[in-house]
Amino acid sequence: MELLKQKIIEEGTVLSDEVLKVDAFLNHQIDPELMMAIGNEFASLFQNEGITKIVTIESSGIAPAVMTGLKLGVPVIFARKRQSLTLTENLLTASVYSFTKKTESTIAVSATHISKNDRVLVIDDFLANGQAAKGLVSIIEQAGANVSGIGIVIEKSFQNGRSELDELGHKVESLARIQSLTGGQVTFLEEVHS
Ligand code: G4P
Repeated sequence: MELLKQKIIEEGTVLSDEVLKVDAFLNHQIDPELMMAIGNEFASLFQNEGITKIVTIESSGIAPAVMTGLKLGVPVIFARKRQSLTLTENLLTASVYSFTKKTESTIAVSATHISKNDRVLVIDDFLANGQAAKGLVSIIEQAGANVSGIGIVIEKSFQNGRSELDELGHKVESLARIQSLTGGQVTFLEEVHS
């Protein structure tokens, strides 16, 4: 997605060979017009999958997921990473290890909102090692629903998340695929920008 790649080049900061900061438009400050364009793109990529629900994870997955839900006309559920005062019963959970943060967390979704008949699209902001997306897939499968696709805003293709998700056999679409962050430069899978 050209608009997204341009934004990464113009407003992203390479923090290390592994980490890209995109607080200016995705992870802290949010660019609503970009999110709308991202939602439209995901909706078009998955329009033939019969999606009935979108599942994402707090917090940075919520904005692109909501815009996609708006376009597809379906509800959006976000998995919680912290315990909620009101969300205590009928929980589906998965344990997610973050290689980036070296932390283990339990993510939770209420079973109330996902049924066996649902065709679910998973949306997340970053794909690094794929653990968050795999946790969401596990939760959807525990509900007996169908995982009908996975949409990622920024994929770090040099980490192993993409192959982890491809192995699950679901349709995976990433809007920007980063081949390398070496030397402070963002290289996309197809082209080089300085
Ligand atoms: P994984 O799910 O693909 O295995 O990813 P990992 O555990 O390595 O990443 C954990 C957190 O770090 C996630 O955010 C993920 O979005 C974020 N992350 C991973 N790589 C990058 C990167 O290069 N740049 C940025 N900006 N974030 C990265 P989170 O802790 O869930 O945060 P948030 O969703 O609440 O913002």
